[in-house]
Amino acid sequence: MVNPRAQDIPLPEIREMGFEGVITNSYIIWKDSGLRESVLAAGIHRHLGFDGVVMTDSGSFQLYKYGDVEVAPEEIIAFQGEIGSDIGVILDIPTPPDVGRRNAESDLKETIRRAGEATRPGDMLLAGTVQGSTHWDLREEGGKAMGALDFDLHPIGGVVPLMENYRFADLARVILHARRFLPPERPVHLFGCGHPMVFALAVALGCDLFDSAAYALYARDGRYITPGGTFHLETMAEFPCSCPVCSGYTPQELLAADRAERVRQLARHNLHATLEEMKRVKNAMAGGALWELVQERAAAHPALLEGLKAALGFNLEAGDPVSKQSAFFYTGPWSLKRPEVRRHLERLARIEERARALVILPDAGKPYSRHYGTFSNRDYHICVLSPVFGMVPTEIDDIYPLSQHVAPGEPDREQREFMKAASEEYSRGFHRVFVHESLAWLGLGDEVIRDIRGTGKGDELMKLRAMADYQFGQGAGRLLFPEGTRVERARTGKIRRVYLEGEYIFTSRASDGMLVPTMAGARRMLLLPWPGNRVVVSDQEAAGYVREGRSVFAGFVTDCDPQLRPYQEVVVVDGDDNLLATGRNLLSGPEMLRFKRGVAVKTRHGAVNLR
Ligand code: GUN
Ligand code: ZN
Repeated sequence: MVNPRAQDIPLPEIREMGFEGVITNSYIIWKDSGLRESVLAAGIHRHLGFDGVVMTDSGSFQLYKYGDVEVAPEEIIAFQGEIGSDIGVILDIPTPPDVGRRNAESDLKETIRRAGEATRPGDMLLAGTVQGSTHWDLREEGGKAMGALDFDLHPIGGVVPLMENYRFADLARVILHARRFLPPERPVHLFGCGHPMVFALAVALGCDLFDSAAYALYARDGRYITPGGTFHLETMAEFPCSCPVCSGYTPQELLAADRAERVRQLARHNLHATLEEMKRVKNAMAGGALWELVQERAAAHPALLEGLKAALGFNLEAGDPVSKQSAFFYTGPWSLKRPEVRRHLERLARIEERARALVILPDAGKPYSRHYGTFSNRDYHICVLSPVFGMVPTEIDDIYPLSQHVAPGEPDREQREFMKAASEEYSRGFHRVFVHESLAWLGLGDEVIRDIRGTGKGDELMKLRAMADYQFGQGAGRLLFPEGTRVERARTGKIRRVYLEGEYIFTSRASDGMLVPTMAGARRMLLLPWPGNRVVVSDQEAAGYVREGRSVFAGFVTDCDPQLRPYQEVVVVDGDDNLLATGRNLLSGPEMLRFKRGVAVKTRHGAVNLR
């Protein structure tokens, strides 16, 4: 947020730091007739001296602070257009947390009414704020109503008091309820969120944009922002940062400087710290380590840990990538609620073929089947009881994250409870249950065993089928891998190639153990019941490009498996289920159906080379 009158930091410097957009307040401009005339004449970009994206707020904040504004809702929207704002905001009614239901409801009604009457000036993007205080059903209603109207993005409003009071659990609930019915293709803006300690959590909950004057307000208070928390300048011995401010000054020197200089330099540092965390979040997302960063931040402040726990009370599995480049870190009992664990517990039930005798072994070196020297077969279903994922059948142990996770050695109490519950549930339905002696504390099973001598060799076909069931859905293994399917293994024991009737159909990717089809394998994937694991491109011309191996743009996706999670292996087909390509989807099913831009599937092979 920049002040339209006087900036603490020159905007060219803000641009140079790497900020691509700023937000300023159109109501402050509108209210001051001299300023209004000059901004109307120059346009907001020239007035600010900023050639990036300029978003303008509407005066809602003043409405919240002073109870009233002098401008009409439609007038301030039109004015934002007239000054050349790139993104305008409706004059929503910010309802603070904990407001009685009746008031929250009538405020929300009025916000929705104004949203319905809002008309977009020219090509300005328009933001429809979701309100509803801390009433979850009102947040959902607000999201539903705003999402049904013609907006480009949706801020979540009325949350500044939650952040000021470190109520991150309620913040998480507000975000998740507000987002629940918003169209997935519209960016979500978290109004007034400027403390970098919240960014990772807020992004994990689906927020895309942030704005705040915190960097300047904190600076005026002599406060120094870090991603782990805030320090008062007087308490600092060193600056734990290498930005130009922190390289150029010591805390003592800044304390000795005159106030204006101190505030300016602190604000500069605070902006650097803000941007740095934003980049850290983006980097974590790209590397599949966003939850690891959220956990790291939560370790720095109990209020953030509360936020993380509240967030993981929701099932966030559907939007979470099935494969990541970095390992899953268990940092405490909350990790057991992460999407990766929920997904494993759900997908376990997909495995169709299991022997009737269950063997439960303790956690060991990964992959487990290498450690134990065998895996399940027709007589014994051999599982490891992981303190992080619960029951892990040895035939799927290569698949992410079952081999790609790290936890402290000794399970804590919650893990032991989780292990007990998971093994008890899984054991049901087996004829006999053998439990390793080190797991006798489970009090489970018909017989305690010391080792797995006598359980025999692993069954290759069962393993392949289990992997396919787990990855593509129940029954996929039977359809993809009939009797006669042959496996070629690397010297390490890992599956390298899968052949059927002499044809190379699948590989198992070394990094995450996922089955990846060749073009011949992709053709077999058409045996899976429609629309399973499919992305449909009906347009003839677009289909032609995809067949040549180009990526699939979301705008051309006409149908797909609604259960697709990001980073699966999918087949791309035309409207008649003819194979066009195979590749990896970057978006979830619901996302690719709605997004108009961006890559939906990164194509690996196009069908043009198919004989
Ligand atoms: N800035 C901080 N909170 C809000 C809000 O709820 N609405 C608007 N329009 N601006 C804000
Ligand atoms: Zn610094």
